Amino acid sequence: MINLIFLGPPGSGKGTQASIIARKHNLMHLATGDIFRDEIQHGTKLGKEAEKYLKRGELVPDHLTIEALKSRLEIVPSSGRNGFVLDGFPRTDNQARELDNLLNQMHLTLTAVFFIDVSEDEIIQRLSGRRICKSCGFVYHLVYNPPKVDEICDLCGNKLIQREDDKPDVIKRRLQVYHEQTKPLVVYYAEKGLLHFVNGSGSIEEVEQRIEKVLEFIQEGS
Ligand code: AP5
Repeated sequence: MINLIFLGPPGSGKGTQASIIARKHNLMHLATGDIFRDEIQHGTKLGKEAEKYLKRGELVPDHLTIEALKSRLEIVPSSGRNGFVLDGFPRTDNQARELDNLLNQMHLTLTAVFFIDVSEDEIIQRLSGRRICKSCGFVYHLVYNPPKVDEICDLCGNKLIQREDDKPDVIKRRLQVYHEQTKPLVVYYAEKGLLHFVNGSGSIEEVEQRIEKVLEFIQEGS
């Protein structure tokens, strides 16, 4: 099995890379941000609660986030997938510890944690140009990864929108929250010998190749 975590600042390309790697290796892609946006779109109780935090660029409380992740992670062993990619989880020290407990109970281990490193200027450019499909959630960038037809999703033909939290004020708060609460996880996973730094600048394909190289290296050694 291949069980991965993608860590990094908002807009570093975690979601883009996690979805490519998940497709290539037949892994279940679990993105807590996508889970919350889906719950918001469906107007569920969790969605209504989570929306207050997403709007402000704050983290959704741990107990809600862990519960949402847990119920999806538990499906992995019987899903026919070769493992999972966690994208945007864990984001706090408490979430990381809870994940360890959960994986222990499920007799699963982490293969690697990728930290995608990108400069703050690049982050602002990536987030301000990001557009997502309102219907299927596929991610584009106006300059770096544009759709074939302006504002229309290549995959399902629906309209592209800008995420509410990709507005300048909220981006600022998300970056602040990231530095305070999520960045320290780099040390947590480095101490476990699981952390791999990936240079996140360059094209989407270049970053993907860097990740694949590390994965090949890990698999050869196991
Ligand atoms: P979430 O959706 O996880 O947002 P995030 O971590 O801020 O990350 P992003 O989705 O903004 O960026 P990304 O790194 O995935 O970049 P992407 O690949 O899209 O979370 C949203 C909110 O949900 C949080 O603020 C919080 O409220 C809540 N939440 C989620 N998880 C939580 C948790 N665990 N605990 C508590 N609350 C939680 O790329 C960005 C853009 O750049 C795209 O347009 C893409 O096309 C482009 N791009 C990607 N790679 C490249 C490249 N190499 N070159 C050029 N452009 C590129």
